[in-house]
Amino acid sequence: MAQHRLGIIMHGITGRMGYNQHLVRSVCAMRDQGGVTLPNGDKVIPDPIIVGRNAEKLAEIGKKHGIARQTTDLGAALANKDDTLFFDAGSTQMRAELITRAIEAGKDIYCEKPISDDFESALKLVRFAKSRGTRSGVVQDKLSLPGLQKIKMLRDSGFFGRMLSVRGEFGYWVFEGDWQAAQRPSWNYRKQDGGGIILDMLCHWRYVLDNLFGEVQAVSCLGATHIPSRVDEAGKPYEANADDAAYATFQLEGGVIAQINSSWCTRVRRDDLVTFHVDGTHGSAVAGLTRCFTQHRVNTPRPVWNPDQPQTMPFFEQWDEVPDNVVYDNGFKTQWEDFVRHLYAGTPWTYDLLAGLKGVQLAELGLKSWQERRWLDVPRLEV
Ligand SMILES: NC(=O)c1ccc[n+]([C@@H]2O[C@H](COP(=O)([O-])OP(=O)(O)OC[C@H]3O[C@@H](n4cnc5c(N)ncnc54)[C@H](O)[C@@H]3O)[C@@H](O)[C@H]2O)c1
Repeated sequence: MAQHRLGIIMHGITGRMGYNQHLVRSVCAMRDQGGVTLPNGDKVIPDPIIVGRNAEKLAEIGKKHGIARQTTDLGAALANKDDTLFFDAGSTQMRAELITRAIEAGKDIYCEKPISDDFESALKLVRFAKSRGTRSGVVQDKLSLPGLQKIKMLRDSGFFGRMLSVRGEFGYWVFEGDWQAAQRPSWNYRKQDGGGIILDMLCHWRYVLDNLFGEVQAVSCLGATHIPSRVDEAGKPYEANADDAAYATFQLEGGVIAQINSSWCTRVRRDDLVTFHVDGTHGSAVAGLTRCFTQHRVNTPRPVWNPDQPQTMPFFEQWDEVPDNVVYDNGFKTQWEDFVRHLYAGTPWTYDLLAGLKGVQLAELGLKSWQERRWLDVPRLEV
C-alpha cells in the first residue's frame, strides 16, 4: 500500500467557506483520518500550503490546525512544481483571474462556485482549461446533502412514478447588521462586489435540478432587493443594491416543473433552511438538509375543502421518514475525496469547470429574465 503526497495551494481559507468547510472539515479532516483511500488501497495525504494577504491570520490558522506552510506570495506558491492542485474559495470576483493563473502554472483546479461572476469570462475560463487539458472540480455540495441523497434514492427506486413538480424553499432572515449583526459577509448585498442571491443560488439550483430532476431547459425569474440598506462588518451603513430574494420557475427535460424561492428576507416556518417538495404520480417527498419524509399514493389522505371548520387533519403526521440506512459524511469532504480519487485513480468525475459554467449560465439568464420580464430558454453549451 503506497502513500502519495498531494500538495494543495489553498486560497481564500480565511473566509467563511474556505476556512470552515474546505480547510477544516475537508482538507484537515482528510489528513487527520490518514488520507484518502484509492480503489487499490493506496492513500493520498493532503499537504496544504495556505495563501492569503494577512500573514498573521495565516500563522494563527496554521498553528491551530498544524499547517506549517503559509505564504502571502501566490506567485511563488504557484511556481512550486511539488504542489499540483490549486484551490480557491476567495471572493467570487477574483476567481476567474486566479484560476487562469493557476492553469497557466500547470495546476489541477478545485474551486468554489460560481466560477466567475459573468458568463463570458466563465466560458473563456472553461475554454482555456480545455485547451490546456486541465483537470478541474467545482464545488456542488448540495448534491451530497443527506436530504438530497435520499431524494435521489427515492427517484432511482421508482418511488415517484412520473415526476410532476418540485418546489424548493431556500432562505432565512439575514439580519440587517444594525440592531443585530448579519450572519453573512456584506459583499453578498453589493452588486459591485459580486453579491446577489441570483448569482449565488441559481448556480446551486442548476446542478441540483440537472442531476436530480431533469436538465434545466427554460427559466423565468423575478428578483427583488427587499432591504435596500444594511450595515457592514465595521458598523458602517451601505447601500444594499444587490438582489436579496429571487422567485424563479424552471422547465425541466421530461416535463417536470420546478419553482424555487431563494430569500435572505424570510422567516423560517418549515422543516429546514432549504426544503424540496417533490410530487409524483405515485408518491411525494419533502427533503430538508438532512431528513426526508415521504407519502406514497396508498397512504395519501383525502382532504375535503371546508373553510367553515378548523382543520382536522394533522398533515405533518401523515408522512413517513426515510431512515438513515447509510452514514453520511460532510458533503464538502465527500466531494473533495471523490475529486482526489479522480486525480489519482481516474475514477468518474462530472463536476468540472464545464458544470460550473452551467451554473453561471443559469444565473445570468435568471438575471436577464428578471430584467426583461420574460421566459428564457437555456441553450445547450458548446465549449
Ligand atoms: N458552496 C456553498 O454553499 C457556498 C456558500 C457560501 C459561499 N460560497 C462561495 O464561496 C466564496 C467565498 O464566500 P464566503 O462566504 O466564504 O466569503 P468571505 O467573505 O467569508 O471570504 C472571502 C475570502 O476571500 C478573501 N478575499 C476577499 N477579497 C480579497 C482580495 N482583494 N485579495 C485577496 N483575498 C481576498 C478573504 O480574505 C476571504 O478569505 C464565494 O465565491 C461564494 O460564492 C459557496
